[in-house]
Amino acid sequence: MTETKNNSQISLTTLKDLEDLPSNRIDVIMLHSQKGGPGKTTLSCNLANELARRGKKTVIIDLDVSQPTLQHIFNIKDIKITINDILLGNNVVSENNISSTSVTNLSVIVAQEKIDYGEGLLSLLKSIHDHSHFILHEMMKTLQNFGYQYVILDCAPGYRIESIHAATVADARIFVLRPSTFSFEGAKEMLQDIYKKLSYQSLNFFIFNQIPPELKDKSLRLLKEWKEEIENKTGTDNIFLGFFNISNEIIENCIWGEYFFPRSHPLHNQLSCMVDTVIQNIDLLKQDEIISGSQKRINLETTEVSTKGE
Ligand SMILES: Nc1ncnc2c1ncn2[C@@H]1O[C@H](COP(=O)(O)OP(=O)(O)O)[C@@H](O)[C@H]1O
Ligand SMILES: [Mg+2]
Repeated sequence: MTETKNNSQISLTTLKDLEDLPSNRIDVIMLHSQKGGPGKTTLSCNLANELARRGKKTVIIDLDVSQPTLQHIFNIKDIKITINDILLGNNVVSENNISSTSVTNLSVIVAQEKIDYGEGLLSLLKSIHDHSHFILHEMMKTLQNFGYQYVILDCAPGYRIESIHAATVADARIFVLRPSTFSFEGAKEMLQDIYKKLSYQSLNFFIFNQIPPELKDKSLRLLKEWKEEIENKTGTDNIFLGFFNISNEIIENCIWGEYFFPRSHPLHNQLSCMVDTVIQNIDLLKQDEIISGSQKRINLETTEVSTKGE
């Protein structure tokens, strides 16, 4: 950075200067949907895996406390801390209680599998309601101090309070839809109800997943109309990340406990484009904030992909 020699001189920060700074920020990306099952967990894991593969120190957190999955996907046996402990205020993250995974640079905080129903569940819900906003904020700061560059929050669907709180701490929200009228209507409702009010200094993305490969032209046209409606008429900027096909190979791999898209699979290429779009937009947003303090929105070209064939 240019040194100021006296108070009357103005110090200018340039993009080049920023490149030279050590990494001193953490980027939080949440995956959300209105209904269950469109592919949040699948995309969260693949996004986290891709960031880690690119050398970014990443942690993925299972915030779907009523349907935990990440301990199975990452085959975590020795669990030292769960998100339940953290949300209950019983424990805090430290460098040696976050589980590492078999993927270099990727750690995971799982959710507790067997919830103590009755009193245990009630106190979890109460604690989440009262404290999860503050706890999540504090946890992001702690993870940043440990050198994490990306946090992926795999959230519960709908208006769950922990998901709303996650949306408030996220730099980027990725909303996942299925190709169905109820998914489309639900997404519009949620984007207008919640995301619109949170778009200050953060970004909204959306993705259609599980598209049948051989769609009729008229169905494809309708999906494109939905995409445009979400982009233009939900009252906030929503950046489109693509139409992702449903794939028999991916389903079959899940039978064998393999959840990452193989590098040779077309979904891997789409995912990689999605990662580029999300991280470049967050970079621009944060650089823009640092340089000018403005809250300008970023509109990068997004990758639109064909829905034909696997
Ligand atoms: N593009 C896809 N192709 C094939 N199967 C998919 C795809 N996306 C998700 N799935 C499958 O759909 C099911 C639900 O996905 P999941 O990621 O658990 O959804 P969510 O977390 O939103 O509830 C899983 O069995 C997953 O393997
Ligand atoms: Mg899930």
